[in-house]
Amino acid sequence: MPRIGVAEAWRTAARQYLQQNVPPEQLTWGGADTPRDLFSAPQIKTETHEISVPRSFVSLANSVVWHSDPSRFAKLYAFLWRLRDHPYLMSDRGDTELAALRRMEKNVHRCQHKMKAFVRFREIGDPAAKRRSFAAWFEPSHHTIEPTAQFFARRFGDMDWRIYTPDISVIFESKKLTFHENCPRPDLPEDASEQLWVTYFQNIFNPARLKIKAMQSEMPKKYWKNMPEAAAIPDMISGAPARARAMAKAAPTLPLPRVKQAQQQQARFTSSWTQDSAHLVSELSSCTRCPLHCAATQAVHGEGPLDANLMIVGEQPGDQEDLAGRPFVGPAGQLFDEFARKVGIDRKQVFMTNAVKHFKYVARGKRRIHQSPNKQEIKHCRFWLDEEIRHVAPKLVVAMGATAAFALTNVQTTLNTRRGKIEMRADGVSVLVTYHPSYLLREKDPEKLKAARLGFQSDLMYALKCVGGTSVATY
Ligand code: URA
Repeated sequence: MPRIGVAEAWRTAARQYLQQNVPPEQLTWGGADTPRDLFSAPQIKTETHEISVPRSFVSLANSVVWHSDPSRFAKLYAFLWRLRDHPYLMSDRGDTELAALRRMEKNVHRCQHKMKAFVRFREIGDPAAKRRSFAAWFEPSHHTIEPTAQFFARRFGDMDWRIYTPDISVIFESKKLTFHENCPRPDLPEDASEQLWVTYFQNIFNPARLKIKAMQSEMPKKYWKNMPEAAAIPDMISGAPARARAMAKAAPTLPLPRVKQAQQQQARFTSSWTQDSAHLVSELSSCTRCPLHCAATQAVHGEGPLDANLMIVGEQPGDQEDLAGRPFVGPAGQLFDEFARKVGIDRKQVFMTNAVKHFKYVARGKRRIHQSPNKQEIKHCRFWLDEEIRHVAPKLVVAMGATAAFALTNVQTTLNTRRGKIEMRADGVSVLVTYHPSYLLREKDPEKLKAARLGFQSDLMYALKCVGGTSVATY
């Protein structure tokens, strides 16, 4: 396989070998540096077979090819070989080969995420030039420079930049991306933006929330040497207890009764996120992908067992959820609980979350009036929802309301034509669309309300049946 353009090269080769019916054991897949073994090259046959593979596999392969494990190509091909005769393999949660590939996919996504967060550019050109020029050195754990380059091109489209890595390097000049092998590590100048990073980092650091393990999992030490702000970390950690004490002293002594109530509620809650996945929660809590974080109290992540079969997705936290830091604790959540009880869904067995993680509202006097998130906000937050789905890997996701349905399927059509049906996403995730409980709370027309309540109940019963449960209610 070449070092540049490996995704396309693997796809082409795998397609050819599959069409020619070449079994995995006849192939030796190698990287650019692997010596070619002439005897391992399979015989080319003339007859070929048309093949089609699920889009979810294509998406999986598109990530796994960037993993650093040299056996990735062979593993992908071996799975693809089996997939050809067993098209439902992509949804087999017990398949160990698929599980290994999913882990590799997750590692690659994580590495891409780190790259987006931790690349630090330094100016290498004339600051007065029309297109300013920047460069960075980065050491990713996987070969993620190619799949992540488009992100930087979109974000920094108005400047020229280059990112060097020990593997391949990318240059973006005059809006054109090119990839290069064997570029030596450049001697990068210190620049004024270094101090800016340090100051920014010191300002966003909250000493009262210091969790060293979570911090290191979010920003592993191996990245520190290329991040100017990392130099400030030891001092910030050692000074944190004193700063937290000072903050506590300065805090208001009489919290709002509503806040107090929400805090008590929150104290009863113990997170189900494991050490392994806690980084997701800590990353989400500092999310600034869209402006909604400015006015909200906190990001509200999903809650429930990480091995839940059923995931329920709502729109966004409401007023009470925003204060409590938990999804579905307000009126809509209580109505959901009522229906869940009726049909026999145990909320403790379900993973509950929202399409958008911050509360969007307008303040009217003391009240905060809910505002629906817009398309951009939903798209920005989709990253977190997809992360939650990847962690939980539910058998079925229930989309409650139009926002959740759009966030999960990227299709924005009226709910009435979709309700009660299962839609399959490209990545193999099944989505059942239904009403949002807030709709049932709002609907004034008795006929429509009756129909909506019946529909919601039957959808939840259907969802339970799909994940292997037995409903206690009847229609
Ligand atoms: N509505 C939602 O969609 N989600 C919540 O968490 C609460 C209300």
